[in-house]
Amino acid sequence: MAVKLEKSSVVIAGGGSTYTPGIILMLLKHLDRFPLRKIKFYDNDFERQKVIADACEIIIHKEHPEIEFLATTDPEEAFTDVDFVMAHIRVGKYRMRELDEKIPMKYGVVGQETCGPGGIAYGMRSIQGVLDLIDYMEKYSPNAWLLNYSNPAAIVAEATRRLRPNSRILNICDMPISIENNMVEILGYKKRSDIVTKYYGLNHFGWWYDVRSSEGKDLMPELKAYVKENGYLVKSDLEEAKQHGDQSWNETYRMAKDLYAVDPTTLPNTYLKYYFMPDTVVEHTNPEYTRANQVMDTREKEVFTACREIADKQAFEGNELSMDEHASYIVDLATALKFNTYARMLLIVENNGIIENFDKTAMVEVPCLVSANGPEPLSVGTIPTFQKGLMEEQVAVEKLVVDAWMEGSYQKLWQAISLSKTVPSITIAKQILDDLYEANKEFWPELK
Ligand code: NAD
Ligand code: G6P
Ligand code: MN
Repeated sequence: MAVKLEKSSVVIAGGGSTYTPGIILMLLKHLDRFPLRKIKFYDNDFERQKVIADACEIIIHKEHPEIEFLATTDPEEAFTDVDFVMAHIRVGKYRMRELDEKIPMKYGVVGQETCGPGGIAYGMRSIQGVLDLIDYMEKYSPNAWLLNYSNPAAIVAEATRRLRPNSRILNICDMPISIENNMVEILGYKKRSDIVTKYYGLNHFGWWYDVRSSEGKDLMPELKAYVKENGYLVKSDLEEAKQHGDQSWNETYRMAKDLYAVDPTTLPNTYLKYYFMPDTVVEHTNPEYTRANQVMDTREKEVFTACREIADKQAFEGNELSMDEHASYIVDLATALKFNTYARMLLIVENNGIIENFDKTAMVEVPCLVSANGPEPLSVGTIPTFQKGLMEEQVAVEKLVVDAWMEGSYQKLWQAISLSKTVPSITIAKQILDDLYEANKEFWPELK
């Protein structure tokens, strides 16, 4: 006899995000394993959220009129009576992402959403936004979980570790999942659960060191042989519209081939390109038209146009919007927490000895078993000198950013930018910092 599963109430924070419709479609697709009684949207931009909400209400109620729906900018309304907060806010929105990318580029330095000075600037904006979400949740639904995608996840995780040490927040990333989906295709398997992976690192800064079939067969040799030639690029990236499937992502996937070459004992996260090959990245970036411009001209336009059309027609056909690994992962995580499944998932957690020869207080990305009690990280053991050295430098950057935010310290932020592997000198670091500070006056704490 089928057991009747308890229904959840979810609030999506950053309701106006380009990813919100995908998460809604994914939630609706999995109602049999993660049933819902209520879906709420929360954003601090009423107009932006309304476009997405008007369409999502039609999508939800088309087949599920019993699910209560509400979109609001009022924290009390949003966070009362929820079991999960699924967060993907972008403090400063694309306008500030564009500046994060363009300011460093003026000085010939990588301009990126989460890596290097751009990621640091974004971190200085995001910390308060995510702390507010935690505080609302703890005030209005203290037993809920906050599943957080809001970037830069590494800096946000370090900040919440220090400033809200007992909070029920889990920071996550969809990049490894997306790469693992490509591994599945490379190996000729069907789904992610057909492979079991071991991975360690920081967010957007890590490596796979073991990949096996569910029967235990070592798949690393076959994967390495493929990555050596093609990176992670697979046929379906070129043929289908996927989340990480546009031309820019295809180049990134192909480039994993060059990242792999420096350490053929592991398989790299694609984000390492910004640290290993900043010169090549800068050379191939148009300083007048960066990734933020591309995203505004494609994903943002497409999602908002589709949502406006759905609202105008008051009808959803089913093919106007798509869902992706970003959405599937957060639903898997919520299911594991709610129904105690002990699913094995990569999460960003406090090291605490998981990586034996690494800072105990670092926030690391490692496989965990997820149950109703939260994540139980799996031991990694010792890591090689190359990875350890790189990670020590990067984790110090992330810690210095949080120091700078907490102390309002210009000096610490200058040190953070100087220490980033993407930045060549303290002189350039200072110039970039001064420009970023000027651009971020509205969002950063005052620095002294
Ligand atoms: P977006 O700008 O379309 O959406 C973000 C939304 O957040 C906007 O509607 C904005 O108004 C809202 N917002 C901003 N500040 C807020 C605040 N303080 N409180 C409430 N709402 C606020 O951005 P997007 O491209 O859809 O991305 C959303 C977020 O998800 C970004 O942080 C992005 O980096 C992150 N993301 C993370 C991963 C990951 O792997 N961790 C993957 C994809 C996207
Ligand atoms: C991946 C990363 C995210 C990041 C996103 C940017 O999914 O894991 O952390 O936000 O890429 O993608 P975009 O298409 O916005 O450049
Ligand atoms: Mn990510």
